[in-house]
Amino acid sequence: MISKLIAAMKKGTIIPLSKGDVVLYLGASHGVTPEIIAELVGEEGFVFCLDVAPDVVRKLVEVCEKHENMCPLLFDANKPEEYSDKITEVDMIYQDITQKSQVDIFLKNIARFLKRGGFAIIALKTKSIDSVKGKEEVLETVKKELEKGLRIVSITDLDPYHKDHYFIICRKK
Ligand SMILES: C[S@@+](CC[C@H](N)C(=O)[O-])C[C@H]1O[C@@H](n2cnc3c(N)ncnc32)[C@H](O)[C@@H]1O
Repeated sequence: MISKLIAAMKKGTIIPLSKGDVVLYLGASHGVTPEIIAELVGEEGFVFCLDVAPDVVRKLVEVCEKHENMCPLLFDANKPEEYSDKITEVDMIYQDITQKSQVDIFLKNIARFLKRGGFAIIALKTKSIDSVKGKEEVLETVKKELEKGLRIVSITDLDPYHKDHYFIICRKK
């Protein structure tokens, strides 16, 4: 299965990343997509790669060792206060955490770490949020939550690459 980032690009989504950007990646897993982002921001940029699962972070450490602009962090993204001394203010937050509370986690990290005018991307898995409601209905509810503090820039349905997933790009007001 291809990365959700690549799926979004294949569907025509423009990723608002520039050389030199600093990114906080939540749900980094084995580092496949964080590695693509590290390439996009170049040597002058940086990617903080965070995941809560020790098993996947072991592999993530190996990937980060090959790139000077990536560093692994083993933390729960639900508790930003526990890693606030490890990272700086960032230009982008990218989140791919398939949890019921994924929007809550996303907003918490944006409030704490994203600079004003910075971009935030969420790979939203609607089935994780509500397994009964249709994906459009879940999206409408999520949009209302996001719009409280963010401007939605684009929404891409990742079908047929990833079913029940939207790739949402927002900007902090
Ligand atoms: C769908 S996978 C991410 C795949 C990855 N983004 C990629 O494209 O290579 C979701 C990841 O989120 C992590 N995760 C789940 N809950 C988390 C939490 N509260 N804090 C940090 N990571 C979490 C899981 O351990 C898992 O590795």
